[in-house]
Amino acid sequence: MKVTVVGAGAVGASCAEYIAMKDFCSEVVLVDIKEGFAEGKAMDLMQTASLNGFDTKITGTTGDYSKTAGSQVAVITSGIPRKPGMTREELIGINAGIVKEVTANLVKHSPDVIIIVVSNPMDTMAYLVHKTSGLPKHKIIGMGGALDSARFKYRLAEALESPISDVDGMVIAAHSDTGMLPLLSKATRNGVPVTEFLDEEKQKYVIEETKVGGATLTKLLGTSAWYAPGAAVSVMVQAIACDQKKMIPCSLMLDGEYGESDICLGVPAIIGANGVEKIVNITLTEEEKAKFAEAAKAVREVNGDLKF
Ligand code: NAI
Repeated sequence: MKVTVVGAGAVGASCAEYIAMKDFCSEVVLVDIKEGFAEGKAMDLMQTASLNGFDTKITGTTGDYSKTAGSQVAVITSGIPRKPGMTREELIGINAGIVKEVTANLVKHSPDVIIIVVSNPMDTMAYLVHKTSGLPKHKIIGMGGALDSARFKYRLAEALESPISDVDGMVIAAHSDTGMLPLLSKATRNGVPVTEFLDEEKQKYVIEETKVGGATLTKLLGTSAWYAPGAAVSVMVQAIACDQKKMIPCSLMLDGEYGESDICLGVPAIIGANGVEKIVNITLTEEEKAKFAEAAKAVREVNGDLKF
Protein backbone atom coordinates (compact mmCIF):
# COMPACT_ATOMS: atom_id res chain seq x y z
CA MET A 1 0.00 0.00 0.00
CA LYS A 2 1.36 3.38 -1.08
CA VAL A 3 0.12 6.45 0.78
CA THR A 4 0.73 10.08 -0.14
CA VAL A 5 0.58 12.85 2.44
CA VAL A 6 0.41 16.33 0.96
CA GLY A 7 1.69 18.97 3.37
CA ALA A 8 4.76 17.90 5.33
CA GLY A 9 3.97 20.37 8.11
CA ALA A 10 3.02 19.58 11.68
CA VAL A 11 0.00 17.35 10.97
CA GLY A 12 1.35 15.76 7.78
CA ALA A 13 4.64 14.74 9.37
CA SER A 14 2.93 13.48 12.52
CA CYS A 15 0.55 11.37 10.45
CA ALA A 16 3.45 9.98 8.35
CA GLU A 17 5.27 9.12 11.57
CA TYR A 18 2.31 7.23 13.09
CA ILE A 19 1.67 5.39 9.82
CA ALA A 20 5.32 4.34 9.61
CA MET A 21 5.46 3.30 13.27
CA LYS A 22 2.51 0.97 12.76
CA ASP A 23 4.29 -0.47 9.71
CA PHE A 24 1.25 -1.47 7.64
CA CYS A 25 2.24 0.43 4.44
CA SER A 26 5.07 -0.19 2.03
CA GLU A 27 5.60 3.49 1.21
CA VAL A 28 4.63 6.95 2.40
CA VAL A 29 5.34 9.87 0.02
CA LEU A 30 5.43 13.31 1.59
CA VAL A 31 4.75 16.28 -0.70
CA ASP A 32 5.25 19.93 0.17
CA ILE A 33 5.54 23.19 -1.70
CA LYS A 34 8.41 24.48 0.45
CA GLU A 35 11.71 23.61 -1.30
CA GLY A 36 13.40 20.62 0.34
CA PHE A 37 11.00 20.50 3.29
CA ALA A 38 9.27 17.19 2.49
CA GLU A 39 12.61 15.62 1.54
CA GLY A 40 14.06 16.75 4.88
CA LYS A 41 11.12 15.47 6.92
CA ALA A 42 11.22 12.16 5.06
CA MET A 43 14.95 11.74 5.66
CA ASP A 44 14.62 12.61 9.35
CA LEU A 45 11.74 10.14 9.75
CA MET A 46 13.64 7.43 7.84
CA GLN A 47 16.52 7.84 10.28
CA THR A 48 14.12 6.79 13.06
CA ALA A 49 13.34 3.50 11.25
CA SER A 50 16.14 1.43 12.78
CA LEU A 51 15.46 3.01 16.18
CA ASN A 52 11.71 2.49 16.11
CA GLY A 53 11.78 -0.78 14.18
CA PHE A 54 9.76 -0.14 11.03
CA ASP A 55 10.34 -0.95 7.36
CA THR A 56 7.93 1.52 5.78
CA LYS A 57 9.81 3.58 3.20
CA ILE A 58 9.26 7.35 3.55
CA THR A 59 10.22 9.63 0.68
CA GLY A 60 9.72 13.34 0.09
CA THR A 61 9.26 15.60 -2.91
CA THR A 62 8.88 19.32 -3.55
CA GLY A 63 5.78 19.24 -5.67
CA ASP A 64 6.69 16.40 -8.07
CA TYR A 65 3.40 14.52 -8.15
CA SER A 66 4.73 11.88 -10.54
CA LYS A 67 6.34 10.42 -7.38
CA THR A 68 2.85 9.93 -5.91
CA ALA A 69 1.61 7.84 -8.87
CA GLY A 70 -0.32 4.73 -7.92
CA SER A 71 -1.19 5.86 -4.37
CA GLN A 72 -4.15 3.98 -2.91
CA VAL A 73 -4.70 6.64 -0.23
CA ALA A 74 -3.79 10.34 -0.17
CA VAL A 75 -4.08 12.65 2.81
CA ILE A 76 -4.46 16.40 2.25
CA THR A 77 -2.96 18.38 5.13
CA SER A 78 -1.62 21.25 3.01
CA GLY A 79 -2.76 24.72 3.90
CA ILE A 80 -2.51 27.18 6.74
CA PRO A 81 -3.50 26.28 10.31
CA ARG A 82 -5.34 28.69 12.58
CA LYS A 83 -3.65 31.02 15.06
CA PRO A 84 -5.01 31.74 18.54
CA GLY A 85 -8.41 33.47 18.36
CA MET A 86 -9.12 32.38 14.77
CA THR A 87 -11.96 30.09 13.75
CA ARG A 88 -11.38 27.23 11.31
CA GLU A 89 -13.80 28.96 8.91
CA GLU A 90 -11.46 31.96 8.56
CA LEU A 91 -8.97 29.77 6.67
CA ILE A 92 -11.24 29.16 3.69
CA GLY A 93 -9.82 31.82 1.33
CA ILE A 94 -6.29 30.43 1.20
CA ASN A 95 -6.99 26.77 1.85
CA ALA A 96 -9.69 26.31 -0.81
CA GLY A 97 -7.23 27.25 -3.58
CA ILE A 98 -4.57 24.92 -2.18
CA VAL A 99 -6.94 21.97 -1.68
CA LYS A 100 -8.39 22.31 -5.18
CA GLU A 101 -4.98 22.38 -6.83
CA VAL A 102 -3.61 19.51 -4.72
CA THR A 103 -6.68 17.37 -5.45
CA ALA A 104 -6.28 17.81 -9.21
CA ASN A 105 -2.60 16.80 -9.01
CA LEU A 106 -3.36 13.75 -6.89
CA VAL A 107 -6.15 12.45 -9.10
CA LYS A 108 -4.09 13.00 -12.25
CA HIS A 109 -1.42 10.58 -11.03
CA SER A 110 -3.60 8.22 -8.96
CA PRO A 111 -7.07 8.07 -10.56
CA ASP A 112 -8.27 5.37 -8.13
CA VAL A 113 -7.07 7.12 -5.00
CA ILE A 114 -9.07 7.44 -1.75
CA ILE A 115 -8.64 10.98 -0.39
CA ILE A 116 -8.67 11.87 3.30
CA VAL A 117 -9.22 15.61 3.74
CA VAL A 118 -7.71 17.26 6.81
CA SER A 119 -7.20 20.93 5.85
CA ASN A 120 -9.64 23.35 7.48
CA PRO A 121 -12.43 24.32 7.38
CA MET A 122 -12.51 20.56 6.89
CA ASP A 123 -16.22 19.90 6.18
CA THR A 124 -16.14 22.57 3.47
CA MET A 125 -12.79 21.37 2.08
CA ALA A 126 -14.19 17.81 1.86
CA TYR A 127 -17.21 19.24 -0.01
CA LEU A 128 -14.83 21.05 -2.38
CA VAL A 129 -12.99 17.79 -3.11
CA HIS A 130 -16.34 16.12 -3.90
CA LYS A 131 -17.25 18.91 -6.30
CA THR A 132 -13.92 19.11 -8.10
CA SER A 133 -12.19 15.71 -8.05
CA GLY A 134 -14.57 13.56 -10.10
CA LEU A 135 -14.03 10.74 -7.60
CA PRO A 136 -16.97 8.62 -6.42
CA LYS A 137 -18.30 9.73 -3.05
CA HIS A 138 -17.14 6.66 -1.14
CA LYS A 139 -13.55 7.69 -1.92
CA ILE A 140 -13.61 11.08 -0.19
CA ILE A 141 -13.44 11.15 3.59
CA GLY A 142 -13.04 14.16 5.86
CA MET A 143 -11.10 13.75 9.11
CA GLY A 144 -12.73 15.46 12.06
CA GLY A 145 -14.87 13.02 14.01
CA ALA A 146 -11.99 10.65 14.76
CA LEU A 147 -10.04 13.48 16.38
CA ASP A 148 -13.01 15.12 18.10
CA SER A 149 -14.14 11.75 19.49
CA ALA A 150 -10.63 11.15 20.91
CA ARG A 151 -10.83 14.57 22.57
CA PHE A 152 -14.31 13.71 23.88
CA LYS A 153 -12.99 10.46 25.39
CA TYR A 154 -10.10 12.35 26.96
CA ARG A 155 -12.53 14.73 28.67
CA LEU A 156 -14.91 11.91 29.66
CA ALA A 157 -12.07 9.95 31.28
CA GLU A 158 -10.97 13.10 33.08
CA ALA A 159 -14.46 13.83 34.46
CA LEU A 160 -15.08 10.18 35.37
CA GLU A 161 -11.57 9.77 36.80
CA SER A 162 -11.33 6.57 34.73
CA PRO A 163 -8.72 5.11 32.40
CA ILE A 164 -9.40 6.20 28.80
CA SER A 165 -9.76 2.58 27.67
CA ASP A 166 -12.87 2.26 29.90
CA VAL A 167 -14.75 5.03 28.10
CA ASP A 168 -16.40 5.19 24.71
CA GLY A 169 -18.02 8.10 22.93
CA MET A 170 -18.51 9.70 19.58
CA VAL A 171 -18.65 13.21 18.13
CA ILE A 172 -20.64 13.88 14.96
CA ALA A 173 -21.92 16.86 12.91
CA ALA A 174 -19.51 19.68 12.07
CA HIS A 175 -15.79 19.97 12.78
CA SER A 176 -16.18 23.45 14.26
CA ASP A 177 -16.30 24.93 17.76
CA THR A 178 -20.03 25.54 17.51
CA GLY A 179 -21.18 22.73 15.22
CA MET A 180 -19.57 19.79 16.99
CA LEU A 181 -22.02 17.38 18.55
CA PRO A 182 -20.55 15.16 21.29
CA LEU A 183 -23.13 12.40 21.77
CA LEU A 184 -23.27 12.30 25.54
CA SER A 185 -26.48 10.26 25.42
CA LYS A 186 -24.55 7.38 23.82
CA ALA A 187 -21.26 7.69 25.74
CA THR A 188 -20.41 4.83 28.07
CA ARG A 189 -18.00 3.72 30.78
CA ASN A 190 -17.54 -0.04 30.62
CA GLY A 191 -20.83 -0.26 28.73
CA VAL A 192 -22.82 1.81 31.26
CA PRO A 193 -24.16 5.24 30.14
CA VAL A 194 -21.91 7.99 31.51
CA THR A 195 -24.98 10.05 32.34
CA GLU A 196 -25.40 7.70 35.32
CA PHE A 197 -22.09 8.89 36.77
CA LEU A 198 -21.80 12.53 35.75
CA ASP A 199 -23.94 15.30 37.24
CA GLU A 200 -25.27 18.07 35.02
CA GLU A 201 -22.34 20.37 35.69
CA LYS A 202 -19.79 17.71 34.74
CA GLN A 203 -21.77 16.76 31.62
CA LYS A 204 -21.71 20.40 30.56
CA TYR A 205 -17.98 20.62 31.27
CA VAL A 206 -17.23 17.56 29.10
CA ILE A 207 -19.30 18.85 26.19
CA GLU A 208 -17.95 22.39 26.29
CA GLU A 209 -14.30 21.35 26.68
CA THR A 210 -14.66 18.85 23.81
CA LYS A 211 -16.11 21.50 21.51
CA VAL A 212 -13.29 23.96 22.18
CA GLY A 213 -10.66 21.19 22.31
CA GLY A 214 -8.82 22.48 19.23
CA ALA A 215 -9.05 26.13 20.32
CA THR A 216 -7.67 25.30 23.79
CA LEU A 217 -4.61 23.71 22.21
CA THR A 218 -4.20 26.51 19.67
CA LYS A 219 -4.06 28.97 22.57
CA LEU A 220 -1.46 26.89 24.41
CA LEU A 221 0.68 26.07 21.37
CA GLY A 222 0.33 29.27 19.33
CA THR A 223 -0.77 27.11 16.38
CA SER A 224 -3.07 24.13 16.00
CA ALA A 225 -2.33 20.67 17.38
CA TRP A 226 -0.60 17.86 15.49
CA TYR A 227 -0.11 14.69 17.57
CA ALA A 228 -3.77 13.73 17.96
CA PRO A 229 -4.71 14.90 14.42
CA GLY A 230 -1.84 12.81 13.00
CA ALA A 231 -2.84 9.79 15.05
CA ALA A 232 -6.49 10.17 13.99
CA VAL A 233 -5.50 10.19 10.31
CA SER A 234 -3.27 7.14 10.80
CA VAL A 235 -6.20 5.21 12.28
CA MET A 236 -8.29 6.03 9.20
CA VAL A 237 -5.50 5.08 6.76
CA GLN A 238 -4.98 1.81 8.63
CA ALA A 239 -8.71 1.01 8.49
CA ILE A 240 -8.50 1.33 4.68
CA ALA A 241 -5.11 -0.36 4.23
CA CYS A 242 -6.01 -3.33 6.42
CA ASP A 243 -9.68 -3.43 5.36
CA GLN A 244 -10.67 -3.26 9.03
CA LYS A 245 -14.28 -2.23 8.39
CA LYS A 246 -14.00 -0.09 11.49
CA MET A 247 -16.67 2.35 12.62
CA ILE A 248 -15.18 5.85 12.58
CA PRO A 249 -17.09 9.14 12.54
CA CYS A 250 -16.01 10.99 9.36
CA SER A 251 -17.18 13.92 7.30
CA LEU A 252 -19.02 12.39 4.35
CA MET A 253 -21.21 13.57 1.51
CA LEU A 254 -24.78 12.99 2.66
CA ASP A 255 -27.61 12.01 0.39
CA GLY A 256 -30.59 12.04 2.72
CA GLU A 257 -28.81 10.41 5.68
CA TYR A 258 -29.52 12.24 8.94
CA GLY A 259 -31.99 14.42 7.01
CA GLU A 260 -29.32 16.26 4.98
CA SER A 261 -28.17 16.25 1.36
CA ASP A 262 -25.42 17.86 -0.73
CA ILE A 263 -23.26 18.59 2.30
CA CYS A 264 -20.31 16.95 4.05
CA LEU A 265 -20.87 16.43 7.76
CA GLY A 266 -19.57 14.09 10.43
CA VAL A 267 -21.48 10.83 10.70
CA PRO A 268 -20.46 7.35 11.85
CA ALA A 269 -19.31 5.14 8.99
CA ILE A 270 -17.69 1.79 8.34
CA ILE A 271 -14.25 2.42 6.85
CA GLY A 272 -12.52 -0.36 4.89
CA ALA A 273 -10.67 -1.13 1.67
CA ASN A 274 -13.24 0.73 -0.46
CA GLY A 275 -13.08 3.85 1.68
CA VAL A 276 -16.60 4.42 2.98
CA GLU A 277 -18.21 0.97 3.10
CA LYS A 278 -21.42 2.23 4.67
CA ILE A 279 -22.87 5.17 6.60
CA VAL A 280 -24.22 3.97 9.94
CA ASN A 281 -27.60 5.28 10.98
CA ILE A 282 -27.82 5.82 14.72
CA THR A 283 -30.94 7.09 16.45
CA LEU A 284 -30.56 10.65 17.70
CA THR A 285 -32.65 12.34 20.37
CA GLU A 286 -34.85 15.24 19.24
CA GLU A 287 -32.37 17.69 20.76
CA GLU A 288 -29.46 16.03 18.92
CA LYS A 289 -31.40 16.10 15.65
CA ALA A 290 -31.98 19.84 16.06
CA LYS A 291 -28.29 20.43 16.80
CA PHE A 292 -27.27 18.37 13.76
CA ALA A 293 -29.58 20.48 11.56
CA GLU A 294 -28.15 23.69 13.07
CA ALA A 295 -24.60 22.52 12.32
CA ALA A 296 -25.63 21.71 8.75
CA LYS A 297 -27.03 25.21 8.30
CA ALA A 298 -23.76 26.79 9.45
CA VAL A 299 -21.59 24.55 7.22
CA ARG A 300 -23.85 25.28 4.26
CA GLU A 301 -23.24 29.00 4.78
CA VAL A 302 -19.47 28.46 4.71
CA ASN A 303 -19.81 26.24 1.61
CA GLY A 304 -21.57 29.19 -0.04
CA ASP A 305 -18.23 31.06 -0.02
CA LEU A 306 -16.62 28.44 -2.27
CA LYS A 307 -15.82 29.26 -5.86
CA PHE A 308 -15.43 26.20 -8.07
P1 NAI B 1 1.57 23.52 8.83
O1 NAI B 1 1.68 24.96 8.46
O2 NAI B 1 2.48 22.97 9.86
O3 NAI B 1 1.73 22.61 7.52
C1 NAI B 1 1.09 22.87 6.32
C2 NAI B 1 2.05 22.54 5.20
O4 NAI B 1 1.36 22.64 3.95
C3 NAI B 1 3.26 23.47 5.13
O5 NAI B 1 4.48 22.74 5.23
C4 NAI B 1 3.12 24.14 3.75
O6 NAI B 1 4.36 24.42 3.13
C5 NAI B 1 2.31 23.09 3.00
N1 NAI B 1 1.64 23.60 1.81
C6 NAI B 1 1.01 24.78 1.63
N2 NAI B 1 0.53 24.87 0.37
C7 NAI B 1 0.86 23.72 -0.27
C8 NAI B 1 0.64 23.21 -1.57
N3 NAI B 1 -0.02 23.92 -2.48
N4 NAI B 1 1.13 22.00 -1.85
C9 NAI B 1 1.81 21.27 -0.95
N5 NAI B 1 2.05 21.70 0.31
C10 NAI B 1 1.58 22.91 0.65
O7 NAI B 1 0.03 23.27 9.24
P2 NAI B 1 -0.57 22.04 10.08
O8 NAI B 1 -0.58 22.38 11.51
O9 NAI B 1 0.09 20.81 9.63
O10 NAI B 1 -2.10 22.07 9.58
C11 NAI B 1 -2.42 21.74 8.25
C12 NAI B 1 -3.92 21.92 8.01
O11 NAI B 1 -4.64 20.93 8.73
C13 NAI B 1 -4.48 23.27 8.47
O12 NAI B 1 -5.44 23.73 7.54
C14 NAI B 1 -5.14 22.94 9.79
O13 NAI B 1 -6.15 23.85 10.13
C15 NAI B 1 -5.67 21.56 9.48
N6 NAI B 1 -5.98 20.73 10.64
C16 NAI B 1 -7.11 19.98 10.59
C17 NAI B 1 -7.47 19.13 11.61
C18 NAI B 1 -8.72 18.30 11.50
O14 NAI B 1 -9.12 17.72 12.51
N7 NAI B 1 -9.34 18.20 10.35
C19 NAI B 1 -6.63 19.04 12.82
C20 NAI B 1 -5.44 19.84 12.77
C21 NAI B 1 -5.14 20.67 11.71
